[in-house]
Amino acid sequence: MKIIMLGAPGAGKGTQAKKIAAKYGIPHISTGDIFRANIKNGTELGKKAKTYMDQGLLVPDELVVDLVVDRVSQDDCTKGYVLDGFPRTIPQAEALDKALEAKGQKMDYAIDVDVPDENIVKRMGGRRACVGCGATYHLVYAAPKKDGICDVCGGELILRDDDKPETVEKRLHVYHDQTQPLIDYYTKAGILKSVDGTVDMEDVFGAIVSILGE
Ligand code: AP5
Ligand code: ZN
Repeated sequence: MKIIMLGAPGAGKGTQAKKIAAKYGIPHISTGDIFRANIKNGTELGKKAKTYMDQGLLVPDELVVDLVVDRVSQDDCTKGYVLDGFPRTIPQAEALDKALEAKGQKMDYAIDVDVPDENIVKRMGGRRACVGCGATYHLVYAAPKKDGICDVCGGELILRDDDKPETVEKRLHVYHDQTQPLIDYYTKAGILKSVDGTVDMEDVFGAIVSILGE
């Protein structure tokens, strides 16, 4: 099962993608996580990506397409995968389709997690990420057991650099401009499914499972 998660920044793509990956036993591939790991490790890719990410802009297509195409060609992806944060532009979607077509494959589902902008801004201020393992929390909706400490690895929880309010506004603008057209793209491809992302996380997941099947 090959799945794309669509939705605004902070809509809950990562939260749901992790649950999907666990339930269906497929890898969760997050381009944002890949870039953040590269930044942390000080790689060339990380240095390049950081200049865009800190401004709330998209990393150029040429830095992301090959990376994802290579990743989905790895052995652990033969049963499928869930893409989180990719594609984010029409050229990325076209490049993905072309790469899959060459192998006689196609995507099965594009799931749009729908959340209005006003909810997004509130959510992002409360998100905390672990510096150690990248786990995501929310001060109100998914609080860690101990304040400021990761339940999984004991790492410190911080506000992501790009979750500052002014950068969130910019990311939302970029989303509407460059990523939202994908909703149309996947509607035309006949694989778009929309879920209400404003309800409780478990209920969002329930709606997704009813689309994907038990
Ligand atoms: P990326 O990491 O992909 O960021 P994003 O798309 O902006 O998505 P987020 O990770 O911010 O949010 P999410 O939807 O996963 O929400 P989450 O589950 O965490 O990308 C970062 C940057 O990298 C981009 O800006 C860009 O520069 C670059 N990049 C990445 N991919 C790229 C690409 N393909 N091309 C070019 N550039 C690329 O949830 C958010 C918060 O809400 C959490 O605290 C969570 O606990 C909480 N929450 C989740 N669901 C609920 C719920 N139902 N109710 C209440 N709270 C909830
Ligand atoms: Zn951790």
